[in-house]
Amino acid sequence: MPEEVKRFGFARTIFSKFRYIRTIMRTLITASFRTAAEIIGQNNVVAFPTETVYGLGANALDSNAVKKIFLAKGRPSDNPLIVHIGSRDQIYSVVSSFPKYAEKLMDEFFPGPLTLVLPKNKKISSLVTAGLGTVGVRIPKHTLAQKFLSACSVPVAAPSANLSGSPSPTTWQAVRHDLNGKIPCILKGDPSHIGLESTVVDCTGNSPVILRAGGVTLEQLRNIIPSTRLQKQQTKIPRSPGIKYRHYSPLAYVFIVSGMSETIPMKTSAYIGLRSEGKADFGLKLICRHESEYAHSLFRFFRECDKKKIQTIYCEQVSESGIGLAIMDRIRKASVQ
Ligand code: TXA
Ligand code: MG
Repeated sequence: MPEEVKRFGFARTIFSKFRYIRTIMRTLITASFRTAAEIIGQNNVVAFPTETVYGLGANALDSNAVKKIFLAKGRPSDNPLIVHIGSRDQIYSVVSSFPKYAEKLMDEFFPGPLTLVLPKNKKISSLVTAGLGTVGVRIPKHTLAQKFLSACSVPVAAPSANLSGSPSPTTWQAVRHDLNGKIPCILKGDPSHIGLESTVVDCTGNSPVILRAGGVTLEQLRNIIPSTRLQKQQTKIPRSPGIKYRHYSPLAYVFIVSGMSETIPMKTSAYIGLRSEGKADFGLKLICRHESEYAHSLFRFFRECDKKKIQTIYCEQVSESGIGLAIMDRIRKASVQ
């Protein structure tokens, strides 16, 4: 791990021990992408909407700006960030090269909920990539995000805009809940349409490998590159470092069930799924019409459960095809205590 990343990791630990000395700042909530882009230009952080989840962005070329992301989120410094750009013509400001199959994936899915891991351009801060030689790059398909990113004129490193460990935010209100007083600006847009993060695909080998399931499905990727595969069970050193951390977790215990018959309905328990059986009386219940609605609603539901002090959340298991693969990944991680 490079010295800069190590030193920063140490500083972050000390800093978090003295949380009370952190200055509370006023968080501007604006609908102006120009104002938000100016704040990025001042090497400060901005939360912004995308079609997957809200991101917390900073200038990917400036280590001091990137540090502010880790500090605001309380994120471990060995977990690399995705770099966002507004259009394909900026791709070489982030990566140094890409294989032919990655170009095909870009043609099909950029802009969209897909992140490609590729060899990095040396101008990208090593804090962004946690010292790795690769970088994740993505072009969101969200009008306001694209306008904002184009106005920034630098590549923008951004993880999801939640406190580390909690569910990713799909509304600006959720960002405000987690980061109010810790960041200078939230660019306010609509709720994120997909509701789960992008699919992260390693493009450094002979064929694409999915490191994290997300908005673009395995089936869609295989339609373009049939040899696309899922990463095998984690080895000791995860290829996507973020995978080893506790993630997406509400305060409640999360249980995966195959239906309501496996639950104990109570005022302090909640249920989310596709099928409704009988009149089970939960404190909170959400029956979704299809998997896309399940994906769209999951993180928001987790946050509502926290607000209502729900203690147990039952999530209905779905088939691991299409967006179901990403839903199952997130509820499994949320259920790890
Ligand atoms: O939809 C999304 O992907 C959202 C929006 C804001 O774009 N972003 C997001 O970022 O979910 P984050 O930081 O919460 O998750 C990024 C994931 C982590 O699991 C990280 O380890 C992985 O991508 N990642 C980033 N760069 C990588 C790299 N160079 N090699 C392997 N994995 C990488
Ligand atoms: Mg995240």
